[in-house]
Amino acid sequence: MYLKYPPFQSKVNGLLHGADYNPDQWLDSPEILAEDIRLMKLARCNVMSVGIFSWASLEPEEGVYSFEWLDSVLDNLVSNGIFVWLATPSGARPAWMAEKYPEVLRVGPNRVRNLFGHRHNHCITSPIYRRKVREMNMRLAQRYAHHPAVLGWHISNEYSGDCHCDLCQEAFRSWLKERYGTLENLNKAWWSPFWSHTITKWSQIESPAPHGETMVHGLNLDWKRFTTQNTLDFMRGEIEPLRAANPDLPVTTNFMEAYDGLDYWKFVDDLDVISWDSYPTWHDKSDDTDQAAWVSMIHDIKRSMKGGRPFVLMESTPSVTNWQPVSKLKRPGMHLLSCLQAVAHGADSVQYFQWRKSRGSSEKLHGAVVGHAGHHNTRVFSDVMQVGKILEELAGVAGKTVKPEAAVIFDWENRWAIRDAQGPRNAGMHYEQTVHEFYQGLWENGIPADVINMDVDFTPYRLLIAPMLYMVRPGVGERIAEFVKNGGTFVATYWSGIVNETDLTFLGGFPGPLRETLGIWSEEIDALHDHDSNHIVMVEGNELDMRGTYTAYELCDLIHVETAEVLARYGDDFYKGRPALTVNQFGKGSAYYVASRNQAPFHREFVAKIVQRHNLTKVLNVELPHGVTVQLRTDGHTDHLFVMNFTSEMKVVPLGEEHHLTDALTKEGVSNSLTLAAYDVKVLTRPCTGKFVGNCLSHNVSSEVLSCS
Ligand code: GLA
Ligand code: ZN
Repeated sequence: MYLKYPPFQSKVNGLLHGADYNPDQWLDSPEILAEDIRLMKLARCNVMSVGIFSWASLEPEEGVYSFEWLDSVLDNLVSNGIFVWLATPSGARPAWMAEKYPEVLRVGPNRVRNLFGHRHNHCITSPIYRRKVREMNMRLAQRYAHHPAVLGWHISNEYSGDCHCDLCQEAFRSWLKERYGTLENLNKAWWSPFWSHTITKWSQIESPAPHGETMVHGLNLDWKRFTTQNTLDFMRGEIEPLRAANPDLPVTTNFMEAYDGLDYWKFVDDLDVISWDSYPTWHDKSDDTDQAAWVSMIHDIKRSMKGGRPFVLMESTPSVTNWQPVSKLKRPGMHLLSCLQAVAHGADSVQYFQWRKSRGSSEKLHGAVVGHAGHHNTRVFSDVMQVGKILEELAGVAGKTVKPEAAVIFDWENRWAIRDAQGPRNAGMHYEQTVHEFYQGLWENGIPADVINMDVDFTPYRLLIAPMLYMVRPGVGERIAEFVKNGGTFVATYWSGIVNETDLTFLGGFPGPLRETLGIWSEEIDALHDHDSNHIVMVEGNELDMRGTYTAYELCDLIHVETAEVLARYGDDFYKGRPALTVNQFGKGSAYYVASRNQAPFHREFVAKIVQRHNLTKVLNVELPHGVTVQLRTDGHTDHLFVMNFTSEMKVVPLGEEHHLTDALTKEGVSNSLTLAAYDVKVLTRPCTGKFVGNCLSHNVSSEVLSCS
């Protein structure tokens, strides 16, 4: 069997290394542009993202184009072996455009139109802005779609936000007409008789506003869905002329971490490559473990979006950001570690913001590869050089992937709905953190995971964890039931199966469509103050062989078992003795219900026991020390293992029965144990164990995979 994704574009092979490059800020300093090329080669960079905010340099006056500077930048880069993600400049527009066509400027939820300034300040609907962007993109495509430097298109930059102008209101109403057909359907979905909010004419509908409507949750959800769709439409308009000029160039747009404003999953089919910008606040606590697991989870989302296809880390800082509350320097080791963490989870490119520090404006103090000193004798530059060298040595990792046995559901619409609901705990429901905590249980046990939304096919997985699945869209309950019947292991928690896709509660007992699969019903949920806690006591002889007690806090669901078996019970309060953890044997599989929000040790131990009982595979069959994880990429022949220590202490990983491991960089054999210094990472290889290759074994492989035989 052989499982390997092709490179992003046939021009490149191996891993990419580079940065956002803004030469248009330095056009009057040719010596600096020449020095840039020398330093890029020194840092072993082979890719740059160019032109992201260059509109004013490309079209200084309406209809007057100036591409010569960009010609020369691209020619210079490619003649030195550096390829380019060429950007479309729609993330910010020139002053002349805002002055002449005010409709291109964004209107806030308060219905006030912004002045020119900032970026991401455009109306998403404006026909004039869409036309201007199209004209610009057509010209870029005509000139550069076959340029040897261009590896692919970087569409806009971090699409975000919404616009509430009259054009957007009209577009919203049309979108609603399409969705609901009649006002009767819309009023039902929005539960309009509440407070007499029945809509009798489409023109009465307005987007949510601080001085207008915010209480109709169906409307709030639909506005977010519409904004996602409208932004997607805008992006499609951007992409069309680019693809027309050269269908072989891949397109990507850089996502922001877990940005809540757009449902990123909706963009996936229109993009060839997924990319994202990562800015964790390393060292904000004495222990980086939680932060590291969160970043790993986001990487896993990006890999999962295209079913395992490698992604691009489009931006990350080589040292500090300048927009977080405190800009702490990366401690020695952290730069390489965080770069290889991306690779470990499926990145085939490690890129920074930005190549050279600006002299003025708001990002002049943001970290960059080349600082204001202008030379390479800096700690940051040598960190970057080291990454460049190691990425070259790890070229064989490119295209490899992982097909995990486990998946965690993290769903954008669910997230919107949980946040919007009033009650049961307005002081914090903590959906994101809860998903993170369950994910971290897998991470700490060295179990690779996909992180998916609820629409993704569950059949490739053996374990499906769905924390707080408050919203259950049509068909999802049935698909989960099938998954369990066929032998899957499912984990659900409190605050699941409460509402449908328009935020109407299920009638007849929570967790609605999950009730039969889980074999319980939830009667009420207790919300605890920050200073309150309860605990759960494991039932003796429980099937997971868990012992003792765990602290429960924030939310305790009071459930009744129907067909499930009780594994733990509450230890305190009037519901002492009531079930707190259950399992239901359903068809050939098992469905667990975690009724309370539990503190961290629960997740690590619960996941470890699930793994044992249901024979899931760990990357290394060992007990990992705290703060250490191991992730894997394989092509079906050779596994690459990334063992990473996110603590400031030395850690020893006992290797036990694990043989055949070789250090990928020194080529030396590794056995007995592996010692990791503070913030250290070791890359190991071994012959593929036949695990984590997914469908490859059954020859049912996506056409994107090169071969599988
Ligand atoms: C974002 C943007 C970049 C830059 C960086 C700074 O990710 O895409 O243009 O502003 O933040 O961290
Ligand atoms: Zn608008």
